[in-house]
Order: sequence, then C-alpha cells, then structure tokens
Amino acid sequence: MLPRYRVSWIRQGERLVALEPTPEEVRACAEELAAAYNEEHNRTMMANTVAATPAEVVTLYADMQRAGGRPFLLYREDTLMGDADLRRVGEGRAEFAIMVGSRTEQGRGWGTRFGVMLHRLAFEELRLERIYATILPKNTASLRLFARLGYVRDDSGVARAFADYADDVAMSVSRHEFERAHGAALPEIAWTVR
Ligand SMILES: CC(C)(COP(=O)(O)OP(=O)(O)OC[C@H]1O[C@@H](n2cnc3c(N)ncnc32)[C@H](O)[C@@H]1OP(=O)(O)O)[C@@H](O)C(=O)NCCC(=O)NCCS
Repeated sequence: MLPRYRVSWIRQGERLVALEPTPEEVRACAEELAAAYNEEHNRTMMANTVAATPAEVVTLYADMQRAGGRPFLLYREDTLMGDADLRRVGEGRAEFAIMVGSRTEQGRGWGTRFGVMLHRLAFEELRLERIYATILPKNTASLRLFARLGYVRDDSGVARAFADYADDVAMSVSRHEFERAHGAALPEIAWTVR
C-alpha cells in the first residue's frame, strides 16, 4: 500500500486540503461525488458516457489506488469542492485530471489552486518529471486551467498515448515549466503522509 498524502495550503486565512482518502472517506462522500460526475455539464466535459452510482465511485477510487494511481478529495475548510487524481503513474510520468463539482463554484479559481497544490506534491515529493492531460477541444475552462498551470500542447507519441479520443487535445508540463508559472506560491504548500 502506497503512503497516503494530505496536502494543505492556507491561503488568505482559508485552509485548502487535498487528501488521499481511505475507503471509508470515499464511501462517506460517494453520493455527492456521483451527483457531481453525473451533472449534465460536468458529464459532457469529462466525456462520461454512463451515469456513475455511488458504489461505482467507491470502486473507481479503489481500482485507481490498487493500480498505483493517486486520487484526492479536495476540501475548502470542511466543504468538499471536488476531486482530482494522478493516474497511470510510472516512469516519472502521470496523467492529471480534476473536477470542481459544483457549477456555481467553477470559474472562481478553485481548479487552479488545487491544481497547483497537487502539482507541487507530484513534482517535489513524488519526483515526477512530466505530467500529461488530455482534454476535449470544447472544454474551454479545462484548456485554460491547464495553460494556467504551465501546460503546453504536446503532440508527441507519449502524450497522445494518454488520449481517449482522436480529437482530444494532449498537453503536458514539466517541473520547470510548472515552477516558472507558480514558483512564488510553492513554499506555502505543505504535505504530510497521513
Ligand atoms: C475544468 C475545471 C476543473 C476548472 O476549474 P475552475 O475552478 O472552474 O477553473 P478556474 O476558476 O481555476 O479557472 C482556470 C482558467 O479557466 C478559465 N475558465 C474557468 N471557467 C471557464 C469557463 N466556463 N469558460 C471559459 N473559461 C473558463 C478561467 O478564466 C481561468 O483562465 P485564465 O487564468 O486564463 O483566466 C472545472 O471547471 C470543472 O471541474 N469543470 C467540469 C469538469 C471538467 O471539465 N474537468 C476537467 C476534465 S479534463
């Protein structure tokens, strides 16, 4: 079993936390996560073709952790804001995905902040060298989020291999590109093994 991390960032007096959950913690919020995955806009942007049940969310997390992936729950104080993960982790690489669940909370900077926290962990603690993302071309918010995190379009074979669909936009970011974009904030972000 891999160590489970808890990443925190106290920002303007507000505590943001990203944690790798236990099965009990996933079960406790599985209904809320399933509802967010199934919300019409989110579902379209994440190309979820079938609705998820809470039980399937629990299985998804367990399967991802078993495969060496790192799913995180995202909290602003005690409020669940969404989830994110590093998947297909290996050879210094991983794929990153994120969701800010509530439609009314999207577009307010949460995706950027939690994204910065998890890239800090990924590059500094997990020692990844490059992180990949594949995005539907119509997902403007996601394209802009990843650009904000320092990602650039990457049509290499390695990057394209992460894509699910032929027209997905493949992007990637190196540690250096990420630190250039967010260096000033990084010392404020801390992590512990839970
Ligand atoms: C994609 C997502 C994670 C982005 O997180 P967020 O908190 O909404 O994004 P932020 O507020 O941090 O903004 C990030 C960038 O996207 C832009 N943006 C956010 N929402 C936008 C929208 N609806 N339309 C256009 N641009 C948008 C912001 O202006 C910002 O860009 P800028 O820095 O160039 O100004 C979130 O919108 C989401 O969960 N969407 C549904 C699920 C999803 O698409 N997940 C990603 C799958 S690859």
